[in-house]
Amino acid sequence: MSLDTEIQRRRTFAIISHPDAGKTTLTEKLLLFGGAIHVAGAVKSNKIRKTATSDWMEIEKQRGISVASSVMGFEYKDFKINILDTPGHQDFAEDTFRTLTAVDSVIIVVDAAKGVEMQTRRLMEVCRMRNTPVIIFVNKMDREGKDPFDLLDELENELKIAVRPLSFPINAGAKFKGVYNIFEKKLDLYTPDKQHITEKIEFSDVKNPALSTYIGNEDTAKLCDDLELIQGVYSEFDIDKYLSGSVAPVFFGSALNNFGVNELLDCFIKIAPPPQPIAAQERIVNPFEETFSGFVFKIHANMDPNHRSCIAFVKICSGKFERNVNYKHIRLSKMMKFSAPTAFMAQKKETVDEAFAGDIVGLPDNGGTFKIGDTLTSGEDLHFKGLPSFSPEMFKYIENADPMKTKQLEKGIAQLMDEGVAQLFINQYNNRKIIGTVGQLQFEVIQYRLEHEYGALCRWESISLYKACWIESDNATEFENFKRRKAQYLAKDKDGRDVFLADSQYILQMAQNDFKNIKFHFNSEF
Ligand code: G4P
Repeated sequence: MSLDTEIQRRRTFAIISHPDAGKTTLTEKLLLFGGAIHVAGAVKSNKIRKTATSDWMEIEKQRGISVASSVMGFEYKDFKINILDTPGHQDFAEDTFRTLTAVDSVIIVVDAAKGVEMQTRRLMEVCRMRNTPVIIFVNKMDREGKDPFDLLDELENELKIAVRPLSFPINAGAKFKGVYNIFEKKLDLYTPDKQHITEKIEFSDVKNPALSTYIGNEDTAKLCDDLELIQGVYSEFDIDKYLSGSVAPVFFGSALNNFGVNELLDCFIKIAPPPQPIAAQERIVNPFEETFSGFVFKIHANMDPNHRSCIAFVKICSGKFERNVNYKHIRLSKMMKFSAPTAFMAQKKETVDEAFAGDIVGLPDNGGTFKIGDTLTSGEDLHFKGLPSFSPEMFKYIENADPMKTKQLEKGIAQLMDEGVAQLFINQYNNRKIIGTVGQLQFEVIQYRLEHEYGALCRWESISLYKACWIESDNATEFENFKRRKAQYLAKDKDGRDVFLADSQYILQMAQNDFKNIKFHFNSEF
């Protein structure tokens, strides 16, 4: 197969949802269709249950499972599909944000009864920022849920994206009879079955009287009305609008019952984008270029603290990656080759000889060679952009609790920050180190890992902060003035960039009002 064909047939995406909406179940059903697994129940949820928050060893154990299921590749109808897994627990939202930088599209799972939940809203913000195409799967139609039209309105309002139903349910809960697949003009009848594919009947015209023999007169009439309403309210599905991230097609189904999943997958391969061009600082890199380039979007630490080895996950942006070929590690300006790159097929991690743009390869790293955001190329000096850090929401001072181990602590903090576990800010006023996270759990993770992997002890001291945001200005005088006035609230991030630490929303608003020439950024990608 030519390089072009290989790349053109790749579809790399992530499934995102609020915990419990059905992400794991849907992933599993997709793998079943791809023949990558043969029984339901094979995909372990990497969901971190609420009860586990006080026992994060348990969490790490569960996270361990997610190394194997971080990327799941399978073949389906001539396509090579790569599903990138995202952690369910909101405390690991940063991981998810970064994973979204390595995909070309996204499937959002929404629970029909719960509608749009908090985590979905936040993740959608990231998709919007990057214009990532999204398909929405409304799950759990076998249960009583919200009215489908209300749900569609809620999706539009809460996710701030136009929607277009491509299937529509016939009843829900105990009376759920199936969906009319608008995309393929087929009636899909529902029989609860967790393993097998359900019956599909061609119905290009819902006015055909035969329809009522399948779903009865009353439901036929209602379906016709519903479809008419859809036709009237929503514009025709426009694939270009989907690809530019301005409209999201919606499917209804039940992942647990394997219903609507096949339709979703079939539509997905028809409309979802192949690997897309990616912006480097120097230029736009086209995936079909002959030469290899890629970037590290995730680093997974080994669970075994005695071997501080990691896996760096590299998204291939262009060309072909080959085993034992020399590539340039741009930050270190060093040529390196990799003898044991792994690819991820279904549940298995295996050494591969080659991988193509769109694929993810895992590179074992024993010596802290990689940081998140590092670029590898065939030789060209490229720096990929687009690995944003988001304003953290929780802050603590980190203090050394064992003065004999200062070096170990410094090294541990530096490496954990490179791995993207949390963000480090140095307060410019008192020189103290502040760790910012998106969840309480990371503080426990950091403390534990510093002790067990680096032999260093730390202590946390509370600090009352509302937000840390990156600041910049074209107006040097005003910037200096701001820095003088707000000296106590200034910090540098680990790359030396200026950060404003606001201790309340009010202070932040005041600063924004008083200093109009200063830009306040809530993620590091500006
Ligand atoms: P997540 O990864 O998004 O967190 O969700 P997950 O797939 O683990 O699903 C959460 C729960 O919802 C699971 O039940 C799962 O069986 C159930 N579920 C998923 N899809 C459907 C569906 O279409 N209909 C119905 N009725 N339920 C669905 P659980 O009891 O938490 O776990 P389990 O014991 O069944 O594994």
